[in-house]
Amino acid sequence: MKIIQAKDYNDLSRKAANIISAQVILKPDCVLGLATGSSPEGTYKQLIEWYKKGDIDFSEVKTVNLDEYRGLPKSDPQSYDYFMHSHFFDHVNIKPENINLPDGMAADPDAECARYDGVVRSLGGVDLQLLGCGRNGHIGFNEPADCFAKGTHCVNLTESTIEANKRFFASADDVPRQALSMGIQTIMLARRILIIISGEDKAEAVKNGFFGPITPQVPASILQLHPDVVVIADEAALSLCGLR
Ligand code: F6R
Repeated sequence: MKIIQAKDYNDLSRKAANIISAQVILKPDCVLGLATGSSPEGTYKQLIEWYKKGDIDFSEVKTVNLDEYRGLPKSDPQSYDYFMHSHFFDHVNIKPENINLPDGMAADPDAECARYDGVVRSLGGVDLQLLGCGRNGHIGFNEPADCFAKGTHCVNLTESTIEANKRFFASADDVPRQALSMGIQTIMLARRILIIISGEDKAEAVKNGFFGPITPQVPASILQLHPDVVVIADEAALSLCGLR
C-alpha cells in the first residue's frame, strides 16, 4: 500500500487525475471502476479539463460504477447515474454503451446484482478502481458489518451513512434506505485500487482503515491486503496518523 500525502483537496484531485490519466494513456481500452460523492468531484473536473485540452481520450475506455441507490430512477438528480453524467460522462468522449452502473430500479435486486457481477466479469475485470471512503470506513456501500460482503449485493444503509448523505437531499427522510453496491470481493479483484480521502472528518477512518487491524467493522481496512493500492489523502485526513 502506497500512501501519498496531498496538501489539500485540489492537490489530491490533481494527483488522482494524473494516475487515472496515466492508466488511460497506458491502456486506452482499460476498464475504470468509478465512484460518486464529493471526493472524486475535483478529480473528474481535472480529467474533463485535460480532455478538453486534447490530452486524454476516453473513446475506448469502459466504466463500471461502484454503486447506485435503490428506488431512484436515472432521471433523479440524486441518482448516481445522474451524478456520473453531470459530473463526468457528459463532458468527455466516452461511448454510452461503455458506461455501466447497477440499475437501482430493477424489480429483482438479487437478479440485478448477479447481472452486474456478470458485466464486470465479461469486461475482464477492473484495471483501476477509484474509491472514496465513508467516515465509518465504508467503501462503496459496504458498511461496517460482522463479515465482508462478496459480490454485488443489496445493502441497508446505516444511520451514519444516511446522516452523511442527507446533505445532497431535501431531508434525511428523502435519502433512500437501500443501495446496490459492488461487494468487497468485487473491489478487491480490481488490478489496482486508488482511494482518495479528504478532510478532518475522515481522519478517524484513515487511521483505523490503514493503520489499524483488518476488520469488517472498518471495511476499508481490507485494502491493506490488496497488492496494488494507492491511497491519496490530504493533510487533514492524515492528521491522526502521525505522518509528516
Ligand atoms: C460512492 C461511494 C461511497 C463514497 C463515500 C464517501 O460511489 O461508493 O463509498 O465514496 O461515501 O463519500 P464522499 O466522497 O461524498 O465523502
